[in-house]
Amino acid sequence: MMLLISILTSLLIITPTTAIPLSTSPSTTPTLLNTTAPPNITSILSTINTPPSPIVTDAFILNFLLTLSYLLRALYSTALTSLSHTDFLTAGFPDPFYASLKQIYLDEESHVWFLNKVLQAAGVEAERELEYVFPFGEGNVGGFVELAGVVVGVGVSAYLGALAQVDNKEYLTALSSILSVEAEHESFLREAIGEVPFPKPFGTPLGFNQTHTLAVGFITNFQDSVVKLPVVPFPSLTLACTSHYYQAGVSSVTFSGAFTNAEELGIMAETPVFAVFLSGLLKIPVRTRILNGEDYAVDRIPEGVVGQSYVLLSRSNDDFSDSNTIAGPAIIQVYRKDMIPNTPLPACPQSNVTKWEGVPSQGG
Ligand SMILES: *[C@@H]1O[C@H](CO)[C@@H](O)[C@H](O)[C@H]1NC(C)=O
Ligand SMILES: *[C@@H]1O[C@H](CO)[C@@H](O)[C@H](O)[C@H]1NC(C)=O
Ligand SMILES: *[C@@H]1O[C@H](CO)[C@@H](O)[C@H](O)[C@H]1NC(C)=O
Ligand SMILES: *[C@@H]1O[C@H](CO)[C@@H](O)[C@H](O)[C@H]1NC(C)=O
Repeated sequence: MMLLISILTSLLIITPTTAIPLSTSPSTTPTLLNTTAPPNITSILSTINTPPSPIVTDAFILNFLLTLSYLLRALYSTALTSLSHTDFLTAGFPDPFYASLKQIYLDEESHVWFLNKVLQAAGVEAERELEYVFPFGEGNVGGFVELAGVVVGVGVSAYLGALAQVDNKEYLTALSSILSVEAEHESFLREAIGEVPFPKPFGTPLGFNQTHTLAVGFITNFQDSVVKLPVVPFPSLTLACTSHYYQAGVSSVTFSGAFTNAEELGIMAETPVFAVFLSGLLKIPVRTRILNGEDYAVDRIPEGVVGQSYVLLSRSNDDFSDSNTIAGPAIIQVYRKDMIPNTPLPACPQSNVTKWEGVPSQGG
């Protein structure tokens, strides 16, 4: 206890004190909106418990989350070194956005420092910083902010999934305090690009291998890590480009080339394969069908899926554990009907446009 407190106290001293002014938007009459369908408590409780695994020790969890903190710090440092204050202003992110971004970078710096100290105090070798690449395009401020929001969302999900398995309650409190700040960063970044800042009442937990699947693409030399974390990515899952924003109950989803990839794992045309949507505490399986002899597809995103959600392919419609996973997760942004963004989605290459029903983007 004393050790964590003293680490936290010294953190207070190094933490910079740039304040983030709150934006004061004019008050408008709030509209009473139903958020999502009420969650099915039976289905949530039946899927919440993950079997304990001997490899998931607190030391593993701390190192896993340290790896993620390095990645997040690298994300912001890449942007702050390759994009200038003026670039942000020109791209329509007025002050104090840039200053806030610097603050977020410093928060990540503090998380890296803190997790290293905690591991050191526990006598555990800490993972080192690796090399990272973030494909937001040179000079593309909007692309960076969008990517950052998505990556931080994955970070929030990673923390949520990890916390359930932490043994030591002091670590639990410390890691939860990091999680809460990551969630603030996510909301801030989502709002900055016109996304709903808090699209659903529950966060979405991800397992370690699921997070790793989404994160490892940003790490160019994972093989050089010093602490060989027991994580293995699943085969990646690609959503076909669409010209519409995804909406639950309305939009179809096509998984490009996913059947072809699954065949290599021994899946046959008649094997039942489920697209499992993870959103908040919901995990909803939908039976897929094969499209064009090479893709999987589902006709409708299930009701209740909203905000940054995930979808994976599973052999089972009730046990979504690693051993049944065929591919994914992939990230899927799902919109409530009344919250579809005004900006059109970028045009898809013609060959990739899904012919299925969806929500046309406004003005696109
Ligand atoms: C919210 O949803 C419930 C059930 O779906 C419906 O009965 C109710 O009228 C809705 N409320 C509003 C304000 O839309
Ligand atoms: C809730 O989930 C359980 C378990 O998955 C299922 O048996 C039940 O039919 C669901 N109830 C509703 C109202 O969807
Ligand atoms: C990740 O997947 C590999 C291969 O299935 C497994 O051995 C490992 O235990 C998993 N890692 C975690 C942390 O569950
Ligand atoms: C677009 O289509 C090509 C050829 O079918 C495919 O290789 C590629 O993965 C698709 N891209 C997306 C984003 O769906």
